[in-house]
Amino acid sequence: MVKAVVLGASGGIGQPLSLLLKASPLIDELALYDVVNTPGVTADLSHISSVAKISGYLPKEDGLKNALTGADIVVIPAGIPRKPGMTRDDLFKINAGIVRDLAKGIAEFSPKAFTLVISNPVNSTVPIAAEVFKAAGVFDPKRLFGVTTLDVVRAETFTQEYSGQKDPSKATVPVIGGHSGETIVPLFSKVSPSFDIPADKYEALVKRVQFGGDEVVAAKDGAGSATLSMAYAGFRFSEAVIRASKGEKGVVEPTFVYLPGVPGGDAIAQATGVDFFSTPVELGPSGVEKAINVLDGVTEREQKLLAACVEGLKGNIEKGVEFVKNPP
Ligand code: NAD
Ligand code: LMR
Repeated sequence: MVKAVVLGASGGIGQPLSLLLKASPLIDELALYDVVNTPGVTADLSHISSVAKISGYLPKEDGLKNALTGADIVVIPAGIPRKPGMTRDDLFKINAGIVRDLAKGIAEFSPKAFTLVISNPVNSTVPIAAEVFKAAGVFDPKRLFGVTTLDVVRAETFTQEYSGQKDPSKATVPVIGGHSGETIVPLFSKVSPSFDIPADKYEALVKRVQFGGDEVVAAKDGAGSATLSMAYAGFRFSEAVIRASKGEKGVVEPTFVYLPGVPGGDAIAQATGVDFFSTPVELGPSGVEKAINVLDGVTEREQKLLAACVEGLKGNIEKGVEFVKNPP
């Protein structure tokens, strides 16, 4: 039996993500939590004739506790999105506190659940959740994930004309590092099955993967950021975690993890100099089974991208850790 919980379920990502989870035969129970509108979203989704039993909660009457109790997997898309002209870091002021408080709830009511953080800035919100779990004595790094799957999905889509895949998701394009601008590093030298990016297209393609979020923010023109593609990506990653938890072998997805706490992570932490980093991980019944080091043999251009990534990531991570250790 699998119970999934969405925190921030009434939002632009929360609603379509909840729809995909409700329709998934892998999920037996689905609980929706938000500070607004969960009764309506829950009533609507409850008419779908799928396996999952659905329930919805608001903060009143122990809503967070009731949503989280018994959870196996908790997905967090709660928090404000960007408007044109904003960076993801501009969201920190509001979203840091939201993620901290929700993580406190998880630590108390579902400490063994897999926790998937979508809320931006991911480079800081994941360290925030980790610090909250540490302080509560329940931190299991194998079970905490920053969701960077949208970067992978974009890389697969944007390279389709070179990969030649009819279904772009059949190309494996590792995207590592973090989830904002230059911290996002697509490794085109490591695609499989292998294909070449023309030299004159390389730079623009890297930039498009790094700044794909800005394309959507600009097109939505003040009405938010990516929601539908994010729901797709968040569902893809949730399904991967659940399939592996049920014993499926060979499930690999890049995700932003606490390297010193996961098997194989130390070597990546040493090579990069950061503790939180997105890298392909092999998933299993307990979460991260192995962090896969894809850094060996990267090209000179990729090394330069990685240097810029690490420089940006350090500050983002530190900011999240400090927010919990020394609250403002
Ligand atoms: P949205 O404003 O449409 O929805 C956010 C929802 O969170 C709202 O329903 C709101 O009521 C709810 N919420 C706010 N505070 C809450 C709390 N304390 N507890 C529970 N729910 C709460 O925003 P959105 O477009 O769905 O984006 C949500 C977040 O996801 C943003 O921070 C955005 O930047 C981020 N995002 C991340 C990725 C990624 O790749 N990781 C991609 C897209 C968006
Ligand atoms: C994205 O990559 O689409 C998200 O992180 C949302 C954003 O702010 O761009």
